[in-house]
Amino acid sequence: MHFSTAVTGREDAILDLFKASFTASEGPEEGALIAGLVRNLLSNTPKPDRRVVTAEARGRVVGGCVFSRLIYANDKRTVFVLAPVAVASDLQRQGIGQQLLTHGLAIMREAGVDIVMTYGDPAYYAKVGFQPIREADAPAPFPLTQPEGWQGQSLTAQTLTPLQGPSRCVPALNQAVFW
Ligand SMILES: CC(C)(COP(=O)(O)OP(=O)(O)OC[C@H]1O[C@@H](n2cnc3c(N)ncnc32)[C@H](O)[C@@H]1OP(=O)(O)O)[C@@H](O)C(=O)NCCC(=O)NCCS
Repeated sequence: MHFSTAVTGREDAILDLFKASFTASEGPEEGALIAGLVRNLLSNTPKPDRRVVTAEARGRVVGGCVFSRLIYANDKRTVFVLAPVAVASDLQRQGIGQQLLTHGLAIMREAGVDIVMTYGDPAYYAKVGFQPIREADAPAPFPLTQPEGWQGQSLTAQTLTPLQGPSRCVPALNQAVFW
């Protein structure tokens, strides 16, 4: 397994991975929605505000995840949100997702990020260090339809204390449908 943060020239392979994985797990509408989100994250988001990490095996992109900046208006800490994450459907449940996220979080730590938030299944994300957090303690950019999926982790020696909002995400994620 090889991990990469390179995007140029690999956009189509990355988009195809997200589209196929979400189509297989949640249907074609979700596949198209998430592929559109990733397209926007790749093309319309300033580079300092997003980081794409891929897992590759034998020249094929088999996993991917995207981190993008989340600004808390009244908080000095550097925060990113992890979304979305996908592993090729024929290769799931073999540990690729966990390796990819562990690697991605290490990259964000080295880049000086203090806190990473995510929004998804707590049973899964707990395996890579996320813990549930109340919206009151880390306001999301939109009211959450599944507040139990809101999670965070500190990448520093400091414990995760409440983030002072309001918060603002990158334009690609700035739609209620993603929250
Ligand atoms: C979620 C996803 C990224 C996980 O990738 P993966 O490579 O299959 O995950 P791993 O093999 O690293 O799984 C690690 C652990 O999580 C468990 N797990 C895998 N998918 C899970 C899920 N959907 N819910 C809960 N646990 C899950 C595995 O059993 C494994 O546990 P174990 O090591 O104790 O056996 C992948 O299933 C996927 O792409 N799903 C479709 C897209 C999606 O839903 N993305 C997440 C929302 S953004």
